[in-house]
This record gives sequence, C-alpha cells and structure tokens, in this order.
Amino acid sequence: MKSFRLIFCVLLLCMTGLAGQVLAASPAIESLRGMEAVPATEPPPAMRDYINDKENIARTFEEQPPLVPHEVDKYTINLTENKCLDCHVKQPGKDKAKSVEMSEAHFTDRNGKVLDHPSAARHFCNQCHVPQIDAMPLIGSNFQPLPLPARP
Ligand code: HEC
Ligand code: HEC
Repeated sequence: MKSFRLIFCVLLLCMTGLAGQVLAASPAIESLRGMEAVPATEPPPAMRDYINDKENIARTFEEQPPLVPHEVDKYTINLTENKCLDCHVKQPGKDKAKSVEMSEAHFTDRNGKVLDHPSAARHFCNQCHVPQIDAMPLIGSNFQPLPLPARP
C-alpha cells in the first residue's frame, strides 16, 4: 500500500510539472480589443461613411442577402410601419427604376405558402440587409467563393 501511495505522488508531481511547462510555452493570448485592462475606457473606433449610390459590393456567396447601397437611418422599421417597403414592393404607377423588387422568397411564409403581401418573417429587413461600408475585415481570411451563377 505504501509503495502504491509513493508511485501516485511521483506521478502527480510529474503531471503538474508537465502542465507548467505547457503553459509557459504557449504564446501570449491577445484579445481583439487590445491588451487594455477590462475596466479601461478606450477611444471609440472612427465612424465610417456608408458607400452610397454606387455599385453594390459583390455578393460573396449565392443566397447572401445583398448589402444595402443607400443610407438607411431615416427609414423606420417598427411594429406598424416599414419604410423600406415604400420602394421595395411593386406598386402600380411607381417608377420601376427607382427600386429593386424583393425576391419571391420575401413573399413566402415559413411553410412555403406564397402570400400576396410581404412575409412577416421578413419584416425586419436589417436583420439580414446591412448598409455597406469600406472596412477591412478584422481578421484576414483566405475564403474563396464558388463562382456565382449568372444572375438574370
Ligand atoms: C426611396 C426609396 C427606397 C427606400 C425607402 C429604400 N430603398 Fe433600398 N434601394 C432603392 C433603390 C433605388 C435601390 C437600387 C440601388 C440604388 O440606386 O441605390 C435600392 C437597393 C437596395 C438593395 C440592393 C438590392 C440588390 O439587388 O443589390 C437592398 C438590399 C435594399 N435596397 C434594402 C433596403 C432596405 C433594408 C431599406 C429600408 C431600411 C430600403 N432598401 C429602403 C430604393 C429605396
Ligand atoms: C431572413 C433574411 C432576410 C430578411 C429579413 C429580408 N431579406 Fe431581402 N434578401 C434576403 C436574401 C437571402 C436575399 C438574396 C436571395 C434572394 O434574392 O432571395 C435577399 C434579396 C433582397 C433584394 C434583392 C432582390 C434581387 O432580386 O436582387 C432586395 C431588394 C431585398 N432583399 C429587400 C428586402 C427588404 C426591403 C426587406 C424588408 C422588408 C428584406 N429584404 C428582408 C434575405 C432577407
């Protein structure tokens, strides 16, 4: 019994020694917010301008919600109104060139039923569509999309 305890203690010592070495060898972990102490206040990142009324930044993958190529701050979306629909729903007599029609998916409910009005599931447009800004990604990536099929 005594020798068993001795072997156990020696093993335990070896393991703690090993763990210490692994910890010492690992590189310092750096947070994305920098090495500031958590309670420290940092200056906010600079506000960037939206890229307006220009070409849309190309979609990165099929089925990506396209970025919004215009300002959105004045277009209210709440329980009772949705300003985006003023331009993005076909309306009789409305100049077609002034908007892009939402795709059929926006008129289909979650059970696949086609509706004659925009689906409530798509009411909050900015859940999926965000304005475009000229910002570098925080972390580099070598992601390559598959070639997109030609859009009509
Ligand atoms: C005053 C009319 C108007 C309103 C309101 C409006 N849009 Fe647009 N939107 C346009 C026009 C016109 C385009 C075509 C590109 C351009 O000329 O800027 C467009 C383009 C887009 C596109 C890109 C479509 C594509 O295929 O690339 C998206 C996404 C979009 N708008 C989303 C929104 C969202 C979300 C809102 C509400 C927050 C909104 N729009 C409100 C007129 C409008
Ligand atoms: C759940 C995510 C989601 C929501 C919410 C949503 N969309 Fe989309 N939208 C998409 C996706 C994904 C696409 C691209 C695939 C497609 O065309 O169906 C798209 C495409 C579009 C397009 C381009 C259509 C085309 O043929 O180029 C417009 C314009 C648009 N959405 C406007 C809107 C507006 C306005 C709202 C709010 C009323 C809205 N979307 C809400 C996901 C969403």
